[in-house]
Amino acid sequence: MRQSDRTAVLGQSEIRAISKRINAVNGINLGQGICDMPAPEPVREAAKRAIDEHRSIYSHHAGIEELRRGILAKAQSYNRIPVTSPDEIVVSVGSTGVFTAAVLSLFNPGEGAIVFEPFYGYHRDLLRLFGIVPQYVRLRGREWDVPWDELEHAVTAASRAIVLTTPGNPNGKVWTREELTKLLDLAKRHDLTIISDEIYEYMLYDGRPHVSPASLDGGYDRTITLSGFSKTYNMTGWRLGYAVGRPPLIENMALINDLVYICAPTPLQHGVSAAFGMDDAYFSELSDDYDTKRTMMCTTLERIGFDVPWPQGAYYVLASFEPRADEDGFKDDAQAVLTLIDRAGVGAVRGSAFFSNPDDGRYLLRFCFAKEMPVLAEACERLERAFT
Ligand SMILES: Cc1ncc(COP(=O)(O)O)c(C=O)c1O
Repeated sequence: MRQSDRTAVLGQSEIRAISKRINAVNGINLGQGICDMPAPEPVREAAKRAIDEHRSIYSHHAGIEELRRGILAKAQSYNRIPVTSPDEIVVSVGSTGVFTAAVLSLFNPGEGAIVFEPFYGYHRDLLRLFGIVPQYVRLRGREWDVPWDELEHAVTAASRAIVLTTPGNPNGKVWTREELTKLLDLAKRHDLTIISDEIYEYMLYDGRPHVSPASLDGGYDRTITLSGFSKTYNMTGWRLGYAVGRPPLIENMALINDLVYICAPTPLQHGVSAAFGMDDAYFSELSDDYDTKRTMMCTTLERIGFDVPWPQGAYYVLASFEPRADEDGFKDDAQAVLTLIDRAGVGAVRGSAFFSNPDDGRYLLRFCFAKEMPVLAEACERLERAFT
């Protein structure tokens, strides 16, 4: 049957293909970014109550008022964004839902978006699905430094926006205030909008602060801030995320949200509203727990001879196996992924999935350490047993 040209950008996601292979050998999947810890009890209870109380009809297309008020207070206090009204907030089907609404609201087909590499695949693929041209800028070195001159050259008359992810997936880069100030200055000079994906905003290490570009002087006027509940509350399957931004752009995003999804699932919106009543200790425990897991994952990878730039935030490590590249099974990332599955029963994602030029990720693998502790410990033991 005839299909649209845009389906050419689809392919089975690399990550999903590897997941299948891991399951076939009953292995441990450190590939897909799924947190397998339970969602918080108050949130689960509130969702159950909403279902029992038959709060089951379509909600307001931008999200229920109670939830948007909770997000408003959080965006003001945690992100320090000068947002003043729930009308500047749209709740959608995951942060992916608001990313889609942002892309459809901002761009005409053929326009360009600056995308930093290594990138989060969904950003790149959704842009391409809608006919927007990714304009790549590769971050450099162990700290994923921004090549400012190259960035300046990557911007063209067709550029409309910069896609930013902080903390980053897959590299764990946490953008500093200085970097974001420079980025905002560039955005102002070229009249670009910043789409800032901050879904990992509570997972930070070594005392690094999370800085939202919308909190900087003049930043809110040209930034759409995206976040969600998937990662912070271990509920990737609930599909709830949101955007914070200035009207009229945010209003158009709400209208697109209405058109594409009608609304986010109503009872789950009621459930997740309970998250804002939780103690602040939840966030420090979350970060401490991931820090312990980060140490376990990174030290294991170092022990098996990988070169490991420790992530500054989020829950992934993008590590290089180049020191082992002369050995059998480590010729390139595709082979290394299979070697880890076959010899240790541990799944990772190949580095080339995160670059426009696959060669840039040839010696890299991404490991996700958002696992229950015993599962992560078992995966680390298996890696050490197989490769030391
Ligand atoms: C950078 C980034 N943004 C967004 C998402 C997806 O978020 P959501 O579940 O809110 O759609 C992910 C999931 O892996 C991610 O890594």
